Amino acid sequence: MNIDWEHLRAEALAMTKRSYAPYSKFHVGAAALTSSGEIVRGCNVENVSYGLSLCAECGLVSELVGKGAGKIVAIAVVSGSGDYCSPCGRCRQILVEHSTDDALIDLPGGPSLVLDLLPGNFDPTRLGEG
Ligand code: THU
Repeated sequence: MNIDWEHLRAEALAMTKRSYAPYSKFHVGAAALTSSGEIVRGCNVENVSYGLSLCAECGLVSELVGKGAGKIVAIAVVSGSGDYCSPCGRCRQILVEHSTDDALIDLPGGPSLVLDLLPGNFDPTRLGEG
């Protein structure tokens, strides 16, 4: 599948304008190409009870699953400046579960495997090890 990284970055940047981040003022947007060929998006949504804030990647995965759009094939996550925003630990776990094994994330040095964001991740096969 051809990946238009510039388009994904632009979609992610556009989502930062929708972000609700009155507390940190750090606006995050995410956009992904999915295995169904659709684009899904997300932005961070903060809460006055800070710990309840939702990351942009969570919104994106919620749209992905709600639409039945398959898995993430390529993803860009940016802050309001348009620079790469490194996914937090929780989002790495969520992204890995909803990405294809060869899914790519747009890093400053070039596209990299989503799987490499979380070496030794907790995956469904580990449920059988208990
Ligand atoms: N944030 C994201 O949306 N995604 C990440 O992976 C890192 C952090 C948001 C959460 C919070 O609204 C703001 O960035 C500052 O932490």
